[in-house]
Formats: sequence, structure tokens, C-alpha cells
Amino acid sequence: SLPERVKIVEVGPRDGLQNEKTVVATEVKIRLIHMLSEAGLPVIEATSFVSPKWVPQMADQGEVMRGLHMKPGVNYPVLTPNLKGFQAALKAGAKEVAIFGAASELFSKKNINCSVEESLLRFEEVMKAAKQEGIPVRGYVSCVLGCPYEGKVSPNKVAEVAKRLYSMGCYEISLGDTIGVGTPGGMLDMLNAVKKEVPVEALAVHCHDTYGQALANILVALQNGISVVDSSVAGLGGCPYAQGASGNVSTEDVVYMLNGLGIHTGVDLPKLMDAGSYICRSLNRRTNSKVAQASCKL
Ligand code: HMG
Ligand code: MG
Repeated sequence: SLPERVKIVEVGPRDGLQNEKTVVATEVKIRLIHMLSEAGLPVIEATSFVSPKWVPQMADQGEVMRGLHMKPGVNYPVLTPNLKGFQAALKAGAKEVAIFGAASELFSKKNINCSVEESLLRFEEVMKAAKQEGIPVRGYVSCVLGCPYEGKVSPNKVAEVAKRLYSMGCYEISLGDTIGVGTPGGMLDMLNAVKKEVPVEALAVHCHDTYGQALANILVALQNGISVVDSSVAGLGGCPYAQGASGNVSTEDVVYMLNGLGIHTGVDLPKLMDAGSYICRSLNRRTNSKVAQASCKL
């Protein structure tokens, strides 16, 4: 059976823009976030407090946070890989953070320059500080359906990392198909393994659409009790440390599918499409959303 409502976590301003070659002006990022909150998105990942040497696109993280008008009822989590990032996020006014681990050793090394075990120790420090400040922490597991460096990833490894993040206090664990290689059967096997360790109510899926499988994978997740879906407006996105990874599944396409299934999201599709065309115009690129392509003859 399917959920009655789904919480969409919009990751466009972070995952969507972190991989862009052209520098996006801070005002454009802020305007995009405002348009997304006006469209009714309940969670908007705003930026990441990572090293500007590693991810230059997110170098204005402090300005983005300070320039935001936080809409009541909307959460604006930011990525924090370590205590330094957490402290900077706190200083900039973040009220929620996310730590991001991986089910693959080589990806962990390439992405955050440490082993999976070391990363979990760093995350414990972030968690401890966050608890003191009363800041909720979301957890990511990357490479849940495949790794650009290791290939196959075992569902048990995903379950193990997800369990560690959940036991340390993450209120939600987002399972990332970082390079979008998964298919529905793999999604089902992985979810079955993870559900043995983490309650399904605390799970989210985060699908990239590299191979065009994202909506099918999301549908399988919904049929298996998941009711939180990450997506990116206009299907922007990709991880700079996962070569070949294309954008996240587009929020427009997810909302269209959920509308068709009669599942409530609270998102206004026309306003969401305005946000999508705004950011595509600013980036001077075509949308990756099929729904936006179908509805706008530009
Ligand atoms: P490192 O070089 O190992 O860090 O990087 P370090 O502790 O050795 O410090 C080296 C330098 O970085 C020092 O500066 C630190 O101050 C600085 P220097 O003395 O050389 O001037 N530094 C920082 N600066 C700003 N913010 C910080 C910070 N920490 C240290 N938080 C680090 C480790 C994690 C910082 C680095 O590897 C990094 O920034 N990586 C970027 C990772 C990233 O953002 N990846 C993309 C997001 S993950 C993703 O997209 C997947 C996801 O969408 C889910 C999915 O799809 O699966 C979430
Ligand atoms: Mg991602």
C-alpha cells in the first residue's frame, strides 16, 4: 500500500548547485530558496558547510544562510561533515544539519577524505554538539545502490551504516543512490536489509536519475513504507566526487507522480515550475524535468 502523504525534501539549492561549473550568485540562490518555500516545500536543503577548496560552489554558505527569510514551518538543513562545519553552520543561523556518510570506503575517501569508520567518529562529535544546541540532525548514506569506485555495494553494508547513524541520534536516514545506477529490484533488496535495522518511518530515499530509474525506484520505496523523498528542482544536481553522476530526480516529476497517485505533498506544482524555470534561466540551461519540458515549449 502507498502512503497518504509524502514529505519532499528539496535538495536543489545544495545538491543541485554544488556541481555547477558556473558560479551562481548568492542572491540567485536565496531567491531560488524563497521560490521553493513559496511553492510549499516543507524542507529545503539550503547549502553545505564544507571546504570551499573542495566545493567552490558552496563557498558562500554563510551569506546564503544570513540572507534567508526562514518561513515558519519550513526547515532549512545544511550539510556539515565535521565539527568545524557544524560550528560555522550554527554561527550562520542554521537550525538543522545533516551529516553524510557512505556505504563505500573508496567513495568516503574521495568525498570527505576519510574512511567510513573515521567519518562516523567525526559525526559523533557533530551529533554531540548538535544535541547540546538542540539541533536536529539528518543522516545520509551514499552509494546505497552502487559506487563509482567500488561498483557493487552490499545491502548489509548499507544497513550497517544506516544503523550507526540512526543509533547515534539522526532522526531520519536518507538512502542515496548517488550515481543513479539502481533499479527497482536492487532498491527492494537494499530496503529490506535496512528496514531490519532502522524503523521505516525514519527512512528517506535520495535518487539520482542518471540511468532514468529514479521514479521507478521511488515508487518501490513508497510501496515499501517510505514516505520521505529527496528531489531537486529542475532535476539539477550531482556530486563532484562521483564522476558521471547526473542530477537528482526532479521535484516536478516526483510531485506530478504523487499527484497522480492521490498522495498529498502540500506542493503547488505551477509555483514549483516557476522556481524551476527561474533557476534554469539563471544557469542558462535546459531543465531536466520531463514534466517541465512537457509543459513549457521554450
Ligand atoms: P580535509 O582536507 O580532509 O580536512 O577535508 P582537514 O580537516 O584536513 O582540513 C583541511 C582544510 O580544510 C583546513 O583548511 C580546514 O580548516 C578546512 P586550511 O588549513 O587548508 O586552510 N576545513 C573546512 N573548511 C570549511 N568547512 C569545513 C572544513 N573542514 C575542514 N567543514 C572535508 C575534509 C570534509 C572538509 C572535505 O573533504 C570536504 O569539504 N569535502 C566536500 C564533500 C562534499 O561536499 N561533497 C558533496 C556533498 S555529498 C553528496 O553530494 C551526496 C549526497 O547528495 C547523497 C547522495 O547523493 O548519495 C549527500
Ligand atoms: Mg545527492
